[in-house]
Amino acid sequence: GTAAAFVNEPFTDFSQEENKSAMKAALNKVKQQLGREYPLHIGSDRVMTEAKERSINPGKVSEVIGLVSKASINEADRAMAAALQTFDTWKKVPPTERAEYLFKAAELMRQRKHEFSAWMVLEAGKNWAEADADTAEAIDFMEFYAREMVRLSAINIHQPLTKINGEVNRLTYIPLGVGVVIPPWNFPLAICVGMTTAAVVSGNTVLLKPASTTPVIAAKFVELMQEVGLPQGVINFIPGNGSEIGDYLTSHPKVRFISFTGSKEVGLRINKRAAETADGQIWIKRVVAEMGGKDGIVVDETADLDQAAAAIVASAFGFQGQKCSAGSRAIIVEDVYDTVLDNVLELTSKLKSGLPEENFAVGPVIDQKSYDKILEYMEIGKNEGYLVAGGSKAEGNGYYLQPTIIADVYPKARIMQEEIFGPVLAVAKAKDWKEAIEIFNDTEFGLTGSFFSKNEARISEALQEMHCGNLYINRKCTGALVGVHPFGGFNMSGTDSKAGGHDYLLLFTQAKLTSRKI
Ligand code: NAD
Ligand code: ALA
Repeated sequence: GTAAAFVNEPFTDFSQEENKSAMKAALNKVKQQLGREYPLHIGSDRVMTEAKERSINPGKVSEVIGLVSKASINEADRAMAAALQTFDTWKKVPPTERAEYLFKAAELMRQRKHEFSAWMVLEAGKNWAEADADTAEAIDFMEFYAREMVRLSAINIHQPLTKINGEVNRLTYIPLGVGVVIPPWNFPLAICVGMTTAAVVSGNTVLLKPASTTPVIAAKFVELMQEVGLPQGVINFIPGNGSEIGDYLTSHPKVRFISFTGSKEVGLRINKRAAETADGQIWIKRVVAEMGGKDGIVVDETADLDQAAAAIVASAFGFQGQKCSAGSRAIIVEDVYDTVLDNVLELTSKLKSGLPEENFAVGPVIDQKSYDKILEYMEIGKNEGYLVAGGSKAEGNGYYLQPTIIADVYPKARIMQEEIFGPVLAVAKAKDWKEAIEIFNDTEFGLTGSFFSKNEARISEALQEMHCGNLYINRKCTGALVGVHPFGGFNMSGTDSKAGGHDYLLLFTQAKLTSRKI
């Protein structure tokens, strides 16, 4: 049948008692299932390997979330064979039928929403609202891409053709082949689901290699797709070491495309390896790479300063600053610099840190490696400006760090240029709004940004001049919604794929023109 128009999944209001207790019940239920072992999915085989990824709770490091089987090159090869074989049949399944699997999975995920969120609270260290938003976005991606595939498959709707006499012409969008899907850990459900289902609903088969710190929530998604009856071999689940099987797969001759979201360093490596032609390869691999950010918020002297301060704090410290969209820079004109900074400090001092399952505003960062790297940046920051908040470890049996603010930072400072991916905000002073925009643009990235002002002329100039994929006016720079704010960045932030937008599925299809004489 025809689906109703797409609408976003609403967020849960956890101030309501019934929602609170539903979330607690979900957390309890999930806790009964901790420590289980998960297999690889290779075609119809479930393969338990000796080697396992040990997923732990970053907020309580003694707690094991699950033990996930780990593919080596041998298993990656078998998964490749399964995906290639399944492609021959899956590509012939009508698009509307492929879309049905996504609709069903979205519905089941909606029914078990809090359970999916609870897994992320425990495995990724998200507070309830952050986890709930992640699950809502995963549901949105499935609902949106399912509708998009239906739309794309309608003859000559996406791109109407000019008519001439004596011919019937059609443009259809056919799948590419076998893809490798490599998502990050920071939206361990939403981005994993979005990247995977977009590729699959377009008629491709995939090898899904989840991020090594969040393989359990990815396994839960793969189980869900089995439950709705997605044919075996369409999604092959192969957790494993990024540099080992990642490198192997990105240079494999039978891989048709690579869909990657993660750091600049890994994205560039994949792009380079994929550009080389392997023996027996008969196509140019397509690389979709969404990478890091050094996003920021610009505030001028006409702005609503309270709203600006609240947006700065939410953008900098939401999920401990571990978003590609995180506003890790605030650039404030000198007239209002002290006022805004004071407001920001006051709001930051109210953020309580603690266990995610108890729903503290600030939780842990993802792992020891991140923790060490962020602590190092805090030290670098102390030499590049004035430490005005935080600056060190925080209490707890996990990777807890204080929300940290470094003021009076020079635009070329490392903490103004490099992605830290943690709760560290650099604040810079500009002489006026024009200079503030120049500072904003002065990085190699270009993912998100915000401009706070009440001056219409300045807003129109900012809309043109601020060079980033997702530019917001008078609001925070995180929290893009599927269908509402198609998401992707410029420059070293990636290929601007615009996930959650109408152009996205084109990246996983190729257009075939057929012309018939009549
Ligand atoms: P990461 O680059 O370390 O890892 C991403 C994935 O790549 C993981 O699954 C990892 O195992 C895999 N990998 C590592 N080496 C590989 C290799 N040689 N070949 C193939 N795969 C390999 O990134 P992360 O720490 O998981 O995520 C954080 C980063 O992701 C940040 O830079 C953040 O800005 C970015 N990110 C971007 C977006 C976006 O839409 N632009 C969204 C979320 C996160
Ligand atoms: N889509 C996420 C956001 O906008 C990354 O915050």
